[in-house]
Amino acid sequence: MKKILLVYYSYTGNTKQIAQYIKKNIQEKQVDLLQLHPKKPYSTDYQKVVDEEEAKMDQKETVALHPINLQLESYDEIILGTPVWWYTIPPVVRSFLKEYSLKDKEIHAFITNGGWLGHTVEELKEYTNLKSYINLTFNGNTLQNDQKGILNWIKNL
Ligand SMILES: Cc1cc2nc3c(=O)[nH]c(=O)nc-3n(C[C@H](O)[C@H](O)[C@H](O)COP(=O)(O)O)c2cc1C
Repeated sequence: MKKILLVYYSYTGNTKQIAQYIKKNIQEKQVDLLQLHPKKPYSTDYQKVVDEEEAKMDQKETVALHPINLQLESYDEIILGTPVWWYTIPPVVRSFLKEYSLKDKEIHAFITNGGWLGHTVEELKEYTNLKSYINLTFNGNTLQNDQKGILNWIKNL
């Protein structure tokens, strides 16, 4: 059976919700979920995080990750779930991609956002061999896209 690693970061829960939905709907493949966390948690004050990250948005910042135990070589495919932070990937996702070389793996990404992707896809391509991605726009906690789009995307993995 094909083994898929579904690795994701989620600060407010949207990406986590989609990760769980994808796992539930992939059949005949083993899907292991791995949630990334920064070593030092972000403030629970959303606006504070938005403002602090805005100030650092052009710095391609990295952060220390909470330790993970990952045998990358045991997976056939990687699904990466990421929110958009200030027009690109958040520091947690960037740190993971820089630390773990995914260049020789097929990567499929789902990108949750509020409607402004900016250069997220371009930056993902800097670190990965991105085969496909899906853009999932949220309004607050509510997914704006049809869930059929996700199911179709899953079929082609
Ligand atoms: C610091 C910060 C910056 C954000 N910047 C953007 C952005 O540039 N474009 C966008 O569409 N959404 C932006 N958002 C919204 C998130 O991408 C969106 O709510 C996402 O679904 C959150 O995923 P999560 O709930 O898994 O953390 C930002 C959110 C945060 C916290």
